[in-house]
Amino acid sequence: MRSAKDFFKPKAIGAPMPLREIPFRPARMIQFFDPSNPKMAAKIPDIAKKVDVVLGNLEDAIQVDNKIAAREGLVKIGRAVEFGDTQLWTRVNSLDSPWILDDLTQLVLEIGDKLDVIMIPKVEGPWDIHYVDQLLAQLEAKAGLEKPLLLHAILETHQGVINVEEICGASPRMQGISFGPADLAASRRMKTTRVGGGHPGYLVRTDPDPSDENAPRITAQQDPWHYTMARMVDACTAHGIFPYYGPFGDIKDVVACEDQFRASFLLGCVGAWSLHPAQIDIAKRVFSPDPEEVKWAKRVIDEMGDGSGVTMLDGKMQDDATVKQCRVMVDLAMALSEKDPELKDAYGF
Ligand code: GLV
Ligand code: MG
Repeated sequence: MRSAKDFFKPKAIGAPMPLREIPFRPARMIQFFDPSNPKMAAKIPDIAKKVDVVLGNLEDAIQVDNKIAAREGLVKIGRAVEFGDTQLWTRVNSLDSPWILDDLTQLVLEIGDKLDVIMIPKVEGPWDIHYVDQLLAQLEAKAGLEKPLLLHAILETHQGVINVEEICGASPRMQGISFGPADLAASRRMKTTRVGGGHPGYLVRTDPDPSDENAPRITAQQDPWHYTMARMVDACTAHGIFPYYGPFGDIKDVVACEDQFRASFLLGCVGAWSLHPAQIDIAKRVFSPDPEEVKWAKRVIDEMGDGSGVTMLDGKMQDDATVKQCRVMVDLAMALSEKDPELKDAYGF
């Protein structure tokens, strides 16, 4: 067992001190791009102004022949672009792939000071995080980095779901977890070929009408991802890190995308992946609390004074617990409005 006292010591001589807390930074939309595609790469400086996070993707969706070009493209972009308060993340190849060692080595040594978070796909258990944690410490020391790199795991294997609590607590570097419905469906042998969202076959149906065998029986689609999302949110929160909805693959179905993002926001997620510019505004709208709700939350907090006791506001019961709920909303609104002047006005801060 590793002593609690050692947990916050650097894992290599000369590596930066691990963080004791992961600061909240807006990451409502994580805009994926392919760094091997020069056309896409040229748009990054402009896209970076519109999003909270740009992520150079090296893993799935990048053809085998382009893996090295993608890594090198990301190094070039990392060096050339000033990102301001927009974060630069990457998704590296999986730990069993032939590219991961060079992905981490080259990125940390060449643009480690520009990168904020490294997303590790297909994480199965804490052992995967321990490996990367040690390797990053060695590379950080070699690169002379002053700020520790953070890690983000994708929850996309059945093993990963079983071990999600331990993954979240595996290293002080852990920043968050994203839900990966495509690989997770395959790993669990679910019978869906969709990337996230509902499925018309996953439903409940009302009972037959005993007096009329032809009476219609209403059905309602259910959410096949609810269990995983809720478990991920609890695991992340227990470890002071952040949960994210991952990809929604049907780019044209902006309505269902918004529904899926919103369901995850209501459950506790702080952001989602954006695979196409059409999803940027959806994520921004969904993961920024509604100004009316923020106004209401401020009113509850103001009326409740020290937060104790019970009162009625517009016919709704308020007590210590509702004040805490309202603080969650107001704290998030305040943190987002520091980055977003339009939101600041809308919230009246
Ligand atoms: C994301 O990587 C997924 O597999 O859904
Ligand atoms: Mg995946």
